[in-house]
Amino acid sequence: MKPTYILGVSAFYHDSAACLLRDGVIVAAGQEERFTRKKGDSDFPRHAAQYCLKTAGIGPSDLAYVGFYDKPLLKFERILETYLGVAPRGFSQFRLAGPAWMKEKLFQDREIRSALNYEGEVLYAEHHESHAASAFFPSPFEEAAILTVDGVGEWATASFGVGRGNNLELRKELHWPDSLGLLYSAFTYFTGFKVNSGEYKVMGLAPYGEPKYVDIIYRELIDLREDGSFTLNQKYFNYLTGLTMTDGAFSALLGGPPRVPESKLTQREMDLARSVQVVCEEIIMRMAKTAHRETGLENLCLAGGVALNCVANGRLLREGPFKRLWIQPAAGDAGGALGVAQLIWHRHLGRPRTVQTGKDAMRGAYLGPEFSADEIAAYLDAQGASYERLERHCLHERVARLLADEKIVGWFDGRMEFGPRALGNRSILGDPRSPTMQKVLNLKVKYRESFRPFAPSVLHEDAQRWFDLDGTSPYMLLVAPVRAEHRRDMTAEERALFGIDKLNVPRSTIPAVTHIDYSARVQTVHADTNPRFHALISCFKAKTGCPVLVNTSFNVRSEPIVCTPEDAFRCFMGNEIELLVVGNCMLRKAEQNPALKVDYKDEFEPD
Ligand SMILES: [Fe+2]
Repeated sequence: MKPTYILGVSAFYHDSAACLLRDGVIVAAGQEERFTRKKGDSDFPRHAAQYCLKTAGIGPSDLAYVGFYDKPLLKFERILETYLGVAPRGFSQFRLAGPAWMKEKLFQDREIRSALNYEGEVLYAEHHESHAASAFFPSPFEEAAILTVDGVGEWATASFGVGRGNNLELRKELHWPDSLGLLYSAFTYFTGFKVNSGEYKVMGLAPYGEPKYVDIIYRELIDLREDGSFTLNQKYFNYLTGLTMTDGAFSALLGGPPRVPESKLTQREMDLARSVQVVCEEIIMRMAKTAHRETGLENLCLAGGVALNCVANGRLLREGPFKRLWIQPAAGDAGGALGVAQLIWHRHLGRPRTVQTGKDAMRGAYLGPEFSADEIAAYLDAQGASYERLERHCLHERVARLLADEKIVGWFDGRMEFGPRALGNRSILGDPRSPTMQKVLNLKVKYRESFRPFAPSVLHEDAQRWFDLDGTSPYMLLVAPVRAEHRRDMTAEERALFGIDKLNVPRSTIPAVTHIDYSARVQTVHADTNPRFHALISCFKAKTGCPVLVNTSFNVRSEPIVCTPEDAFRCFMGNEIELLVVGNCMLRKAEQNPALKVDYKDEFEPD
């Protein structure tokens, strides 16, 4: 029988993406930014969709359905009502979720059809249903509570519900303009970072600060209820009407204007970051407790941009109330493309869902393009690059030895990751034991702020010997403490340091991946989903006794993660990485023709 192909699409807001299912199985998924090299590209994902179709060897006429991740009419209604000054509508506590799945016929059909050269049916899901579907359907759970939290979709800004078998039902929603995502973004803007991409920096900055503003936030900015629902005091925010997130009243309340982007970070920004992080965690904890109480279930699935807050996720896992947690790796809007496609398969077509015990359906999130050894060699030859082509085991041996020698390695292998994290296929790797690695990587390789922490990739089998982590973290979405036996105590003098001065104090035997509060954003590496990356770390462990590598995404700041060998080579020739591995080809910077150097870091605007 002919297979059923469904293409899911998210677009026109931020982080456009496409995802293809064949008989319910994820064949390919990609974010448009990786193909167009425009960070957070929100245009219709033509390139990503083309890539998906090409991977399956099909054309647009082979698609049974195209799904779109939100409902443009509802979103339009919110924007219109906001503009006319009649929003917020209704009350602000958790509301019953609105009517579920429906078809929508409107102008967007035409746009989607013509962009894809497709003539079939287009179906629409609600934004938070798409998030919820992306959280539950690929999860390793037969049944689970679902929590979605983001900036805003059509009206909803957070929701919770239940997934069972092939069924999914949202029960309650929190509505615009009361939004945890937008509260966090307001502080992101106020601390001088870019909204929609700088939230990660605020989270990274938080441990340097004190929660000095928490009382003010609760007193003035937010009315938080026991069940996790809340009302934001719109007097202080400007995102309903203006171009900025906050206004003069916000500045007056917090004792001064926003930080000018790129200016020096002060203790104030660190304290603001810590404060909004504390509030964010409290809200997530309360929402989770409510979802737990109302569903009586033991598993929780998370998605929506706020689910990328891995510090909050780590707390949720450690402090309950759920026993198990699964977070969609593409938790932001890109993941909506996957969610809507799965809604069509399971809900619209009523197809069953089978769960493999203990395994999710994301295949490690390695769902993007890959390149054959011959394609890679042909590209490098055309560039006049100098390289060695090595057997796999020999390559791993060599790279592990160089890593142990504190060399920084650009590592490009297999299929590109779907979602914001590099998980060992488009990564820059280093030795976590090195006390200078964090600084060198930030300043000479990534060209970004020195405070930003790096994440460890650890062999799954060794994870619990190094981190206090209950379960796995294949998608680098959980923060866990480094175990006590690997920590290093601070001297009295070091303890007295404040803010960013704490940065240079090594906290553990793997200082490059240990944040100042002894936490680490862990990726557990599994032999079944990424055997080659697993083998490389195993080699490093055999040489050093350490089953951990520094893993940061292969890009410089403001640039999307590299997608092709060409992107990787350009990035390599434009920064201070000493070694590049593309497939089984190894390149040393010192051996490259200096004429190939790329003046690279100035091509991207600061973020
Ligand atoms: Fe969203």
